[in-house]
Amino acid sequence: MKKMWWHEKTAYQIYPKSYLDTNGDGIGDLRGVINKLDYLQDLGVEIVWLSPIYCSPLADQGYDISDYYNIDPRFGTMEDMDELILEAKKRNIGIVMDLVVNHCSDEHEWFKKACENPDSKYGKYFYIENWDGKNLPSNWRSAFGGSVWEPLPNHPDKIYLHTFHKKQPDLNWENPELREEIYKMINWWLDKGLAGFRIDAIINIKKLLPYKNFPADRDDGLCAISCMLEKASGIGEFLGEMAKRCFIPHNAFTAGEVFYAKDEELPDFIGEDGYFSSMFDFNETLCNTSEMGWYDQKPITPEQYKACCFESQSKVSDFGFLSNIIENHDEPRGVSHYIPKGECSLKSKKMLGGLNFLLRGIPFIYQGQEIGMENTKVNSIDEVDDIAAIDEYKVSLDAGLTEEQAIEVLNHFSRDNARTPMQWDNSENAGFTTGKPWLKVNSNYKDINVESQINDKNSILEFYKDLIKLRKNPDYTDAIIYGATVPYLKEQKNLMAYYRKGEKQTVLVMGNFQTDKQDVVLPAKIKNVLINNCENIDMKNDIVTLEGYQLLVVEI
Ligand code: GLC
Ligand code: CA
Repeated sequence: MKKMWWHEKTAYQIYPKSYLDTNGDGIGDLRGVINKLDYLQDLGVEIVWLSPIYCSPLADQGYDISDYYNIDPRFGTMEDMDELILEAKKRNIGIVMDLVVNHCSDEHEWFKKACENPDSKYGKYFYIENWDGKNLPSNWRSAFGGSVWEPLPNHPDKIYLHTFHKKQPDLNWENPELREEIYKMINWWLDKGLAGFRIDAIINIKKLLPYKNFPADRDDGLCAISCMLEKASGIGEFLGEMAKRCFIPHNAFTAGEVFYAKDEELPDFIGEDGYFSSMFDFNETLCNTSEMGWYDQKPITPEQYKACCFESQSKVSDFGFLSNIIENHDEPRGVSHYIPKGECSLKSKKMLGGLNFLLRGIPFIYQGQEIGMENTKVNSIDEVDDIAAIDEYKVSLDAGLTEEQAIEVLNHFSRDNARTPMQWDNSENAGFTTGKPWLKVNSNYKDINVESQINDKNSILEFYKDLIKLRKNPDYTDAIIYGATVPYLKEQKNLMAYYRKGEKQTVLVMGNFQTDKQDVVLPAKIKNVLINNCENIDMKNDIVTLEGYQLLVVEI
């Protein structure tokens, strides 16, 4: 496999709005990120992905961009951004921005001009159709609820398509002129010195045309957008063009948010000459999700978690690098989601983090994961900001849940769980802001915060540093970076164990995914212990007895 500059790196996602506020307006900003560059360098991460900071009405927290060439004043200025890129580089950190080009904001000038005159060239930047006031071109449901079709402002005889919120009109990628605009913008940013992009909702850019209906999957008569996405083909033409025009010439790192990719297409996406450097593995994320909505989703068991990880690893095997996560800004906190209820502890958090981090691919740590941040708790819908959560609340009520039950659903699944402010210390508002935070700080910040974990050898923060150090250790590149993932004792319940097999060395990762002890027969003698989240190793002959939630990583 051709070696790439990003293969050995560890990535870190920042949700700027919730990272650090430096001017007291309650909103995290770019200066806050600049202030924390030393912290990030000390942690050891070398790629930092920023969720969107472009100008935006923030209908979907910046994933609705009204100007691709400017920074939203709430986050700072272009000078701040230039400084961030430069200062990060000095610390060997590459900045990766979010590329949101399936849609823009309805407040983008392209859409405003399209509304002024749908017959102008800007009308063709979107999917605008004639409308008789009754029949819609398709029965697709948008990701945030309701039909994907919305009347075009000032034109009662026309409608436009939005696969997400109505304030996020989809851009028409079939139009070469639109694609040119996008490539120009991407190159403009890459020329500034960005290391690359995380690529938002990219699978949505290819629509199934002509439009068609699918069987309804809820009482609203609509079908999930996945129905059409799974059927749409030919996206490779757009993605290959974008790679050739933008990413390849810049040697950029790109991580695609790719859902519903077909197995046989994976090499096209992330093989050696793939469209992207990497793509996120959402197999665990999607496990047990239900067409009916969040309220119908069952908790994921350790056995399911293991099976999902192994399935993705085997699909990609050695031709590419997945991006591995336990959480991001769209998910509940990984420790609250994947560790069975009531079993969250220092040990189990480390075990989950380590099991995921050591899979083959690029590990992405989401802000706060490195200190073990957990889901938050709201008591009423008034405390909820996330548009997806507000929609799912309605879906739950419509399905007959009580308000209390619907709130419970959100307390598990809401995207706000991951969006509460970063917990820096035990001062008011966790040191995130001197003002009123835009979203309530998790009440557990006095127990869980960065300051209390720095230099505490037993802390989750120090544990993540050890994981990153191991990944960077040239002695283990063969196994940890390039080695194959091979499951070990796959059938043994609540044991998640795998080899990372390099050409010259083998590492064995073992996690006891339960509170009870468990015996594991070792396949060979231990040469070196690389990571252990417990104090001891209980060994007799070739049997190691793992404590509950013990993670043991050894060279054999
Ligand atoms: C992606 C983003 C998510 C956003 C959506 C629409 O899934 O991660 O936050 O709401 O795209 O842009
Ligand atoms: Ca601020």
